[in-house]
Parts: sequence; structure tokens; C-alpha cells
Amino acid sequence: MNYSEALEKLNSCGQEHVLKYYGELSEESQKSLLSQIEKLDMSLLNCFSKKDISGKRGNFKPLGAVTIDEVKQRYSEFSETGINAIKNGKVATVLLAGGQGTRLGFEHPKGMFNIGLNRELYIFECLMNNIKSTAEKSGAWIPLYIMTSETNNAETVEFFEKHDYFGYNKDYVTFFIQDMAFAVDENGKIILEDKDKIFLSPNGNGGWFSSIAKAGLLGEIKNKGIEWINVFAVDNVLQQIADPAFIGSVICSECESGGKVVSKASPDEKVGVLCLENDKPSIVEYYEMTDEMRNGREPDGSLSYRYGVILNYLFRTDRLEEIMNNEMPVHIVKKKVNCLDESGNPVNREVYKFETLVLDMIHMQKSCLSYEVERNREFAPVKNAEGVDSVDTARNLLIENGIEI
Ligand code: UTP
Repeated sequence: MNYSEALEKLNSCGQEHVLKYYGELSEESQKSLLSQIEKLDMSLLNCFSKKDISGKRGNFKPLGAVTIDEVKQRYSEFSETGINAIKNGKVATVLLAGGQGTRLGFEHPKGMFNIGLNRELYIFECLMNNIKSTAEKSGAWIPLYIMTSETNNAETVEFFEKHDYFGYNKDYVTFFIQDMAFAVDENGKIILEDKDKIFLSPNGNGGWFSSIAKAGLLGEIKNKGIEWINVFAVDNVLQQIADPAFIGSVICSECESGGKVVSKASPDEKVGVLCLENDKPSIVEYYEMTDEMRNGREPDGSLSYRYGVILNYLFRTDRLEEIMNNEMPVHIVKKKVNCLDESGNPVNREVYKFETLVLDMIHMQKSCLSYEVERNREFAPVKNAEGVDSVDTARNLLIENGIEI
């Protein structure tokens, strides 16, 4: 793309300020900026002008779950079914590790955070210990695909190499890189990181499957006969990965997908709730719930919209392929980042980022099994440096579960 083509592309959507410093740049920087402009997906700007996607939601109804008691009763049936699926190579796992972890304020990939007190214990290590124990139980290595971003890929790969994959078989670990997206200010103007650089950040966790396809890994997944993919977040240090009973219960229920849930601690807890929307499975975010939905109760006194998701889902590979090219809702997320202000000076300011989310894939499924787990056994998220869902709360939960830290 040459200068006038770039200017035309930007002009057509009121973004010509991106070329404001072009005349000051070296030839090499000019070329680099033009190629960044060429790659910009301007359709995102329409999402910003529409902004409020919550208005488009349908009719919600509560959805029940396989409860902890029901799981206990059918535990051996579920876990045997899951272990057989793992043994037969039908299950793979995907670790979503492309996020920036802004809230934690740690300047490396979140998984590199040392959550140990008296010994080194990294978040990645906790996860690898968990998948390793399932692999041992099942007698088979479970393929693990790790999604990173252009920003954190090199550091993440190096960290795994340095720690010898925390004892996991590295032949079963594959990294792939997700896409990036630009961000805008409150007036919808594209943000610059530098005079020759458009600010880009990871475009949310919703593109994980299409990024797998883009990375050329779909052929391998199909050739291996992988039927189920368990996708999970990096930040839950008690995350149970490829949990045989979870996989088995989804298989036995003949549902197309599954989601691990916990009973909400209070009506106001800030978690998305697995429910029905227009009679299809869906996740409603806490800020999208009306007071009536938040506080509504069943005759037995329990919350009607009771089951909060913990970002641990199971999907069928064939169904993921079918929906891979479906348009996903784009969420606009406010975050503080380092960039340039309107006068070209470095600042740390709030910008609006564009993200697609894995939770929206649930609404593209015909059915989803809500699978209840014990909060204190399986949910220890590290989102914040202190307070709720923080390093301290996660440490306490690790200790409560007998893990030395
Ligand atoms: P979060 O929603 O907690 O986002 O991600 P984040 O970027 O990690 O953290 P904050 O909001 O800036 O503090 C939930 C999961 O999705 C992954 C994260 O790595 C985490 O496992 N994720 C998020 C991606 O893989 N890519 C993204 O673009 C965003």
C-alpha cells in the first residue's frame, strides 16, 4: 500500500490523524506504518459507533445444572467415560494465555507469575501439574495447545523451555498466536503507540479456534481424531484440565458442549451466568442482568440464575468447525494502556479495545451441559493484585487444597 492509498483508506473513516507524523519518519518507519494501515480492519469502527451490544439480547430463562451431588452419584460412570475418551486420543486442551493481565499489573505473561510463598510456584506450573495428574490417571499424554499473543509469545515459549515444560511431555505441547486489534479513544479515533506504530493489543479470547485454524493446526487435530476440546483460562490456579468426570458427563448427556459452573456466592457476584437465551444456551454477563434476574429465586430458595461460569468449557471439534466463520459479537472493553496523546506525547490513558469472547461461542451451540463444581476445590482466579480474586485469595485456596506454596 502506498501513501495515497493509505490516506484514502483512513480518510474514508475519519482516521487521517494516523499519518500525522509521516513526514517526520525515516523511510523504513514510513514503510512499516503503511503496512500496518493496510492490515487494519476498519469494520471494527462500526462496532464502536453502535457500542451497546447488550441491547440486542433475547429472552433469558434459567438453566439447571448437573449438580455436585448428581456428579458424586454417577462419578465412576462419568470419569470412566472421560478416561476412555482421553485414552483413545479424542480429547485436546487449549490454554488461553494471550491476555494482557492488566488488572494484575505484572509486566510478563500472567502464567509466569510466582504465586509461591516459601518456594517458587508459577501459575503455569500449577496448570501443568493439574494436566499432568490427569494424564497420569488416564495413562495418556493429552495434547495441549497454548494460545499466546504477538506480545507475549516469545517470553512464554522461552519460559516453558527453561522450565522443561514442568515435567510434561513437550511433544504434546503446541503454541499458536492469536490476532491483534487496534484501539480507539472516546471519540472513536485510532490510538498510536508511537509516531510510526499503531497501538495494537490481543483481540480477546473468542478467536481461539479460528487462530488454531490460521496456524494450520486443524489438519493435525482432525488427523489425530480429536473430537473434544477443553478450553480454559490461564488465571485459575485450581483449574482442573481435561477433567475426566466433566468430559464423561458431557458425553453421557449427549450435549454438544459443556461449561463448568459454580453456585454464585451472592446475587451480586460479578460472574457471567450460564442460562438459556431464546431457548438456546447462553451466558449473560453480570452487568447485563436485570435486578429481577439477579435476585429471582426458585421455590426452594436458591437463586434462579445461580450458576456462574469459570472459563472452563468443552466443545465438539466438528461443531467448532461449523461455526468457525460465524460472525461473533464484538465487545468494547475499556483499559489503561501506554500510548501517545493527541499531541504525540507518551501517556498512560484509558482506551477502548475490541474483543470477541469465548463465552459467546456457547450461544452458537445447540446444547450445553452446565456442570457444577465445588468452588473452593476448582476456582481460584488470579485477576487482581489485591482484594477479590487476587494473589492472596488464590494462595489461601491453594493452601486449603493441600498444595504447598
Ligand atoms: P481476562 O478477561 O481476564 O483478560 O482473560 P486479561 O487480558 O487476561 O486480563 P485483564 O482484564 O487485562 O486484567 C480471561 C482469559 O482469556 C485469555 C486470558 O489470558 C485469560 O486466560 N485471553 C484474554 C486471551 O487469551 N486473549 C485475549 O485477547 C484476552
